[in-house]
Amino acid sequence: MKFDVLTIFPEMVSANLQEGILGRAVKRGIVDVRIVNIRDFARGAHRSTDDRPYGGGDGMVMRPGPISRSLESIDRVRGRSHVILLSPQGERFDQETAWELSRWNQIVLICGRYEGVDERIRLTCIERELSIGDYVLSGGELAALVVMDAVSRLIPGVLGGERSNLEDSFEDGLLEYPQYTRPRVFQGQEVPPVLLSGDHEKIRMWRRAESLKRTLERRPDLLQKARLTPEDKSILARLKKEFDTL
Ligand code: ADE
Repeated sequence: MKFDVLTIFPEMVSANLQEGILGRAVKRGIVDVRIVNIRDFARGAHRSTDDRPYGGGDGMVMRPGPISRSLESIDRVRGRSHVILLSPQGERFDQETAWELSRWNQIVLICGRYEGVDERIRLTCIERELSIGDYVLSGGELAALVVMDAVSRLIPGVLGGERSNLEDSFEDGLLEYPQYTRPRVFQGQEVPPVLLSGDHEKIRMWRRAESLKRTLERRPDLLQKARLTPEDKSILARLKKEFDTL
């Protein structure tokens, strides 16, 4: 997978590619990240990448020329390349979108700054606009890192020895069950005995019930789209009854 990140703060992106699973994938060459400094494509004495909005108003708008020339400078994988603008106005990025993006060969991420980018860039160069949540960041750089991290984990070979991403929260639409490791007793709190029982079927059922309970308590909205078995549905019915009697 190739990512090209267009930004006016290249260090903000590169600094975060040194560590962790994404950093390792880059070092191993499974993921290739190129960072393009939009300022390198700015013209004029001041090489400015932004300007005041036509019609007046607060803030600055990213000029179309430097972004357009940055895009032209990129080696595009024909037919397999997808251009995305990160902005709070985009559709919400989620695990399903991460899977969709993982099927492209190249993803170009444009990090917006200031009050946004000139609308003509949006209309002519952008194929998709993504937001990582309903809050406003100072720019798209952190959002681009979030997207690259979530997508890279889904690319074969990136997770290596780590457990399968299929077990992650959200893969089946549910939150993850609680995890425990040694010691067996920590500050007087014991590990749930079922996890020490060695009975794999019992452990599987306990974990599933805990996942359902957590999702019901914290994110009931997810249950609408979750893939639920008849066993899940009967566990949920029991949990809902327990909640109602509390
Ligand atoms: N840029 C500023 N805020 C953002 C957000 N929430 N998601 C994506 N890009 C952004």
